[in-house]
Amino acid sequence: MEKPKRAQRPHCLVLPHPIQGHINPMLQFSKRLEHKGVKVTLAITQFIFNKTMNGTYSSSISVETISDGYDQGGPEAASGGYEEYLPRFREVGSKTLAGLVVKFGNMGCPVDCIVYDAFLPWGLDVAREFGLVGAVFFTQSCAVDNIYYHVYNGHLKLPLTERTNITVPGLPPLEISDMPSFVSVPQAYPPLLKLVVNQFANVGEADWVLCNTFQKLEEELVDWMAKIWPLRKIGPTIPSMYLDKRLQDDKEYGFSIFKPKTDACMKWLDQRSNGSVVYVSFGSLAQLGVDQMEEIAWGLKNSNYYFLWVVRATEQPKLPKNFMAETVLNGLVVSWCPQLDVLAHRAIGCFVTHSGWNSTLEALSLGVPMVAMPQSTDQTTNAKYVMDVWGMGVRAQCDERGMVRREEVEGCVREVMEGERGKENRRNAMKWGELAIEAVDEGGSSDKNIDEFVAKLVKS
Ligand code: UDX
Repeated sequence: MEKPKRAQRPHCLVLPHPIQGHINPMLQFSKRLEHKGVKVTLAITQFIFNKTMNGTYSSSISVETISDGYDQGGPEAASGGYEEYLPRFREVGSKTLAGLVVKFGNMGCPVDCIVYDAFLPWGLDVAREFGLVGAVFFTQSCAVDNIYYHVYNGHLKLPLTERTNITVPGLPPLEISDMPSFVSVPQAYPPLLKLVVNQFANVGEADWVLCNTFQKLEEELVDWMAKIWPLRKIGPTIPSMYLDKRLQDDKEYGFSIFKPKTDACMKWLDQRSNGSVVYVSFGSLAQLGVDQMEEIAWGLKNSNYYFLWVVRATEQPKLPKNFMAETVLNGLVVSWCPQLDVLAHRAIGCFVTHSGWNSTLEALSLGVPMVAMPQSTDQTTNAKYVMDVWGMGVRAQCDERGMVRREEVEGCVREVMEGERGKENRRNAMKWGELAIEAVDEGGSSDKNIDEFVAKLVKS
């Protein structure tokens, strides 16, 4: 099909995988593009649109919907789980995304480029169908992407065993427990292993490979990966208001699938002294066992620090029965919070986190040391880096049943809040925060990469 004539401003259609941890970074990248003169339209599924538009979305970025085939219920409506959901999303999503491209062409505002989540490689097929630029966007760390790539190319043979010598270019020596869960336990959820490995099926054909990291954070890795793909680091995708402060309109930092209880927790934090509060959150997806919740609850209580704990509404029944009554003086449990405002608050002393990539980048950018308690997916590898590569925190150890006991929670919190190691973690966290600002600030490595991307779009 002939490429339509484009409007003055280049126009990017940005396609995230429809979960909070992928929408947030792609929305923030969109804001950076808009700031540099690109028109951006975020294409989200109808299901996510229904959930968020009734909620808290407010941003300069326009939004349009596509369909994943499950407009009413989203992935959970697929009776066959992700095995059923992903092919249907590919089929219906490709058609509805193509429909959007046509619609914009007819409106005189043609699309020039599709920036698609690496989890949705069919975005490139749609781009090619219309002769558009195709840019794949990796939301997770380069370390994790590189591991998945080495599974894809057969260098890492699964299942890994105790005898496997895990060597991946650019990565430190890794134990099985440091590997992403889809790789360390490949039998646990085959459709998701397939999803992360398939990211690389057509990556070599993409015009751009964009990664949510920055040069100094994963130097050796990005240099290695840049030898095989047109890789550009554009992160960290933290709202400008928390980093370089160059974007004016950045009041709202993301789509919240959950509703934040802003006032309650910020007022509560205002009453605490500097560095006195432990912030605890396991992100938007992790589901902890009842026993694990209990261990965390009593570990926090026993540490004697103030804590602010995000427990999503669906997880709250797992809290110990008398917990809130007992902790009312030193703890606050909320179902969701404005995490960046919380991490930026002077009262926060450390972050007990599942080590999702966004949470990791956010803590790192805001100089908050961490207690890593990875649950699944990429979080284990992120936790390894937090502790052993970036020196920004400790990783809580599991017992033989895979549980982090209350003594371990308490001990790790104390170590980061008051120990010598905690002081070093905080110093390192501050250093990484400064390097993150340097990367996105004017003329920084990520900023220049975005400039280059935009300049090529303008010329194309
Ligand atoms: C998922 C995966 O679990 C994660 O490992 C992967 O790297 C990205 O996709 P999620 O589990 O939600 O993401 O974790 P994370 O990546 O940390 O993203 C959570 C986002 O929600 C963060 O941007 C965080 O700021 C935000 N959040 C979380 C809030 O705004 N409020 C909260 O109360 C909790």
